Amino acid sequence: MWDKVYYFIMIPMVYIAAATFILGLLSKFIIVLLSPKPAGTYAIFPKKRYRFIGAVGEALFVPTAFRKDMRFWLMIIAFHVAFFLLFIGHLELIREFAIFQIITHHVFLGGGIVGIVLIATVLYFLFRRLKSPWREISVPEDYIILLLLFLTFIFGSHMSLASRYGIAGFDIPVDAYREYLSSLFTKNPTISQGILASPHYVLVVLHVFFANLFLMLFPFSKMIHSVFIFTAQLIKRK
Ligand code: HEM
Repeated sequence: MWDKVYYFIMIPMVYIAAATFILGLLSKFIIVLLSPKPAGTYAIFPKKRYRFIGAVGEALFVPTAFRKDMRFWLMIIAFHVAFFLLFIGHLELIREFAIFQIITHHVFLGGGIVGIVLIATVLYFLFRRLKSPWREISVPEDYIILLLLFLTFIFGSHMSLASRYGIAGFDIPVDAYREYLSSLFTKNPTISQGILASPHYVLVVLHVFFANLFLMLFPFSKMIHSVFIFTAQLIKRK
């Protein structure tokens, strides 16, 4: 029976998660585009110069957080840099990209640091919300999405550390992940033998399970701000 559950999580649920993620994002774009224009303006005065570059700078370096709370700013920057590396790392788990190997490295990027930074920062964001005044403006979904991220990170980080520093037998080769992930883009998705035969298989399943739940919830959570941050900054600088 567990074989069937694992199969469902590793293949059909990944498609369901990807479809929910994409359709969820599209629906948010449509809602924003079709919503009536406000009577007033969202622009902030006094007007700032360099609208485009200013919006890019604001979105990338979050100077407002820097001015308010240095520790929070550091956590935001660390989280986003690590998340960017995480995205590249997962692309490299699908297939080889020559462009990412300009600086030659062992896949997964970062030697295990990426997962550790993400775990530390997500715990910071989670505990911060338990304190006043953030507790009063938090809703259950805010905690759930951070908990899902934490669980995804814990299992991912474990696999990454095990494959790089683990004892023989407790590591799954990158090629086994590539075989599985690239097969998801074909008509014949399969879980590779290298993953199925590993004593770590259950951890891969747990990682993918929590990642799927995260992807399904993302478009409907406050984290959607990351998709609209640049356009929001442009509107503020209009
Ligand atoms: C179907 C979706 C996903 C699959 C198949 C997958 C697979 C993997 C695999 C195989 C590793 C370990 C690579 C290695 O051996 O070094 C890994 C690492 C990791 N994954 Fe995922 N992942 C998925 C989605 C996600 C998502 C959505 C997140 C978070 C938002 C995530 C976060 C992580 C983290 C934090 C690590 C550890 C990185 C490190 O410290 O080196 N994964 N993932």
